[in-house]
Amino acid sequence: MAKEFDLLTEEYNLFDGNHFDITSFKSSMNHIMNKQGKVLVILNDPCHNPSGYTMSDSEWAQVMSICEEVSNIGPVILLHDIAYVDFSTNPNWKASLIRYQTLPSNMMVVIAFSLSKTFTAYGMRVGASIAISNDKEQLEAFKDATIYSARSIWSTVNNSVMELFHHITTNPTLLDAYQREKQSYIDLIQERATIFVTEANNVGLPLYPHNEGFFATILVDNDKKEALNQSLQAQNIFLVEVNNGLRVALCSVPKQKLIGLAKRIHNIMYT
Ligand SMILES: Cc1ncc(COP(=O)(O)O)c(C=O)c1O
Repeated sequence: MAKEFDLLTEEYNLFDGNHFDITSFKSSMNHIMNKQGKVLVILNDPCHNPSGYTMSDSEWAQVMSICEEVSNIGPVILLHDIAYVDFSTNPNWKASLIRYQTLPSNMMVVIAFSLSKTFTAYGMRVGASIAISNDKEQLEAFKDATIYSARSIWSTVNNSVMELFHHITTNPTLLDAYQREKQSYIDLIQERATIFVTEANNVGLPLYPHNEGFFATILVDNDKKEALNQSLQAQNIFLVEVNNGLRVALCSVPKQKLIGLAKRIHNIMYT
């Protein structure tokens, strides 16, 4: 998407061992601010795709303090992608968004919300950008810019699914039924994760840090992942290649197929 608009992107390293790499985040933020005088940074949390990592409160506190510090030099926008928020095992996770109540004037947060996961409404193209700022003028400017760019590029979101969202979330009976059904899927994915992650740890299959969410990812160097993926496919194991890893879709593999999977992958990986 950035390329389409001739924008340059830079990456920060995501993990340092089993934790968010705050050192890399900080040096990238400073480097980009010093280079171009403004920063737009993207973070996907909770249930990060593809690792399944959810950042801790203290990691978030450090991220916020770095963003605040850098915003003394130039404007900072934090694009917080919460695509998997409704599949967090922590029912109180959303309360943590209160941190955005006290932003410095030179910082804006844009929360990217999607119905693709929340309502399993993939392809229906419904979501929202929720902009938060203490600067009313900046908020107005953001609103105008998004309205004009949305209208000029793709017009509007799917009307019937917008209606569906409104209908379900404003009807207590439907909302309750929806929440109960969704909870059953959160529990199911967590049971699947327990099987896969426990077995991976037992056989020594290296995974990126995983807490919850749709995916878990095996550490595989970029120069080895394609060949390994082909060997796995020959054994009817279908994973997705990601940067330095192969992603396992816990959201779509039944429990009985996950039992023994880590060992099978490990055997193919190390023979
Ligand atoms: C982390 C993350 N953000 C955003 C999206 C996009 O969702 P949408 O279907 O609303 O474009 C996805 C979809 O896979 C995702 O994994």
